[in-house]
Amino acid sequence: MVQLGPHRIAPPLWLAPMAGVTDRDFRLIVRRIGGVGVVSMEFLSSKAIVNGNKKTRELMYFSPEERPLAIQIYGSDPVAMREAALVVQELGADICDINMGCPANKVLKGCAGAALMGDLKLAETIIRTVRNAISIPLTVKFRLGLDNDRRNYLELGRICEANGVQAVAMHARTAREMFSGAADSSWHHLARLKESLSIPVIGNGDVREPDDALRLLAETGCDGVMVGRGATRNPWIFRQIAARLAGSGVSEPTLEDRRELVLSHFRLVAEREPSTFALHKLRKFTGWYTHGLPNGRHLRQAINQIPDVPSFLATVEAFFDGTAVEQAA
Ligand SMILES: Cc1cc2nc3c(=O)[nH]c(=O)nc-3n(C[C@H](O)[C@H](O)[C@H](O)COP(=O)(O)O)c2cc1C
Repeated sequence: MVQLGPHRIAPPLWLAPMAGVTDRDFRLIVRRIGGVGVVSMEFLSSKAIVNGNKKTRELMYFSPEERPLAIQIYGSDPVAMREAALVVQELGADICDINMGCPANKVLKGCAGAALMGDLKLAETIIRTVRNAISIPLTVKFRLGLDNDRRNYLELGRICEANGVQAVAMHARTAREMFSGAADSSWHHLARLKESLSIPVIGNGDVREPDDALRLLAETGCDGVMVGRGATRNPWIFRQIAARLAGSGVSEPTLEDRRELVLSHFRLVAEREPSTFALHKLRKFTGWYTHGLPNGRHLRQAINQIPDVPSFLATVEAFFDGTAVEQAA
């Protein structure tokens, strides 16, 4: 359990913020399956929030069913970050999270995301300015450092703690590594961070299976676990980790569970998105959801030719019905 201000996060499991993935529909799907403690919105530019950018404001929509929910902001201007954090608070988010780990060039160029690990003075000013402005819990997500020669996560962690941040999450890779290499070979850094801080530390990086989460907790002493890509392939992972934490076995989703998940997610997307964007999204998620399913490859090939959302849904439905018949035979 992790206490973040008034929120008791139990089980202490976070859905990681992922741009283009953790939108409202996906967050709802993960929340409805259960087991997750906090769901995170993808990172949003503080400037875009402050300028009232329409697309960004639309992305900020969430439903009460998602709570507790964290909204993550990024930027390098302390004033814009403060104003954006105030918007996050006004919208009713449970947690405001600051991104200090994004390695994308577009973000680094603006000296935001992981670039702030190269300027801890500015990082501290941002943290202090935001912390003083809002009353909801504040968390910061970062990496090990910019590269192997500049692993300064302990310093940044201490800055967070000294400035009233409620918890930190660390992805156990450097910015230079992006997503390469095995993060679990760097989990010992999570253990060091945990030893050095008294605020909760959430460990992140390469938790793909429920047992990876248990291993991370046991090896690092972290207070919680954050899962990103593992949840796109297996949105049941939080429920499975929670079961393992409670001492029970892991149950695999049935074909019927998968059918329900895929179709309910896709209906949510179809209700809201303009159709070409919806198709793009549906293809992406179909790829993840059908990984490892019998004949999943056939479906993935078939959907590339589908021109509209209703035929897409019909094809996915027929796929599951056909697979169910095959299994029963
Ligand atoms: C498609 C994608 C988008 C991401 N977007 C964000 C983001 O908006 N904010 C952030 O802090 N991290 C972002 N990340 C990093 C994840 O939150 C997480 O730290 C990383 O994927 C490692 O965890 P995992 O091995 O469980 O996926 C993103 C990762 C992916 C794969």
